[in-house]
Amino acid sequence: MEFDISIYVLISLISFGHNLGTKQKDVTQNIGEKMAIRQEKQILMKAVVYTRYGPPEVLQLKEVGKPTPTDDQVLIKVHATTVNRTDCGFRKPEYGFIVRVINGLFRPRKKILGSEFAGEIEAIGKDITAFKPGDSVFGLSTGRFGAHAEYVCIPEKGSIAIKPANMSYEDAAAVCDGLMLAMTYIRKIDFQNSKEILVNGASGSIGSACVQLAKCYGAKITAVCNTKNIGLVRSLGAERVIDYTKDDFTQDNQIYDVVIDAVGKSSFFRRKRLLKPGGVYYSTDLGFLAQNIFLALWTRVFSSKKVKFPIPKESNKDIEFFKEIIEAGKYKAIIDRRYSLDQIVEATRYVETGQKTGNVIITIL
Ligand SMILES: NC(=O)c1ccc[n+]([C@@H]2O[C@H](COP(=O)([O-])OP(=O)(O)OC[C@H]3O[C@@H](n4cnc5c(N)ncnc54)[C@H](OP(=O)(O)O)[C@@H]3O)[C@@H](O)[C@H]2O)c1
Repeated sequence: MEFDISIYVLISLISFGHNLGTKQKDVTQNIGEKMAIRQEKQILMKAVVYTRYGPPEVLQLKEVGKPTPTDDQVLIKVHATTVNRTDCGFRKPEYGFIVRVINGLFRPRKKILGSEFAGEIEAIGKDITAFKPGDSVFGLSTGRFGAHAEYVCIPEKGSIAIKPANMSYEDAAAVCDGLMLAMTYIRKIDFQNSKEILVNGASGSIGSACVQLAKCYGAKITAVCNTKNIGLVRSLGAERVIDYTKDDFTQDNQIYDVVIDAVGKSSFFRRKRLLKPGGVYYSTDLGFLAQNIFLALWTRVFSSKKVKFPIPKESNKDIEFFKEIIEAGKYKAIIDRRYSLDQIVEATRYVETGQKTGNVIITIL
């Protein structure tokens, strides 16, 4: 689109400078006609586009050009995607300056959100060896985004793998963001020596993934959630559950090797007494005045109880690992609500209540 506009501006300038030369006028006319024909031939797809930062209402369902894969990309017909907190953070943007630096200071550079996808490969670039048309795949496209659309292009070396055989497209779409973020913390834990783990916000996308992953590694998990989710978090592997509507878990008598705050609703200072000496506190959020970054540096030297704030990293090795644990029956997708692409504003408003259980799906096909 931007390309077409710049050609259009160029043509206008040429035309303005030479408007008395009939020959030049003919050339310009020809280019204009060629462009019109090309635009007519352009294949369109439905996508949710946003051209300015703001509330959920900035998201609009539009027809845009269907993407074409480059040599190292696959073109995926998206069957299902999600609305997650990362999408919301890039749209609002709740992480303020950082997001604006990444995605455009005044207006978003990447105009189609959607970081999780599951679908079928429709076409491949000429250098692709790992996938073929017709393959069912799932994965993650954080930073690149683009999955809130009928088609998305993903690099072969990106976070993409063959979809688990025992999972629907909807379930597979709901796996990767929470799991990838949970892996950021879980892979740092030495499970030989750290068995007692508390997960706050265990019913959310990241929290529910933390509980299931920690269970895979043999941890003894205490989960904090609302009354309505007690049964769910137990079924995911929590041995003990604290209902935050009835008890203040920060006053718990038990102490833990690791505390993971998967909702970022409190601070290290309130949680510190829950940690054993040498214990570690992880948070999914930066905290008030980005304190968790500074506390990570400070506690590294000056405290036996540590704050760690690892930076999430995507990798296709992780997506393959997710496929393995799903096919081994050790991980299941938690889906709260399902919406269609034209209900994206409603879906986003729900996600922003901060009260979804697991994940919110957008079914496209
Ligand atoms: N580090 C990163 O790169 C990154 C990326 C994405 C998101 N995040 C952050 O990570 C956090 C979690 O994201 P998410 O997608 O997992 O969130 P989410 O799915 O929206 O989870 C919210 C869950 O937390 C529960 N909850 C709400 N208030 C609670 C409280 N006071 N105590 C315990 N549980 C509570 C909710 O259940 P009830 O309402 O039923 O209690 C809900 O199930 C968010 O704060 C988000 O900003 C970080």
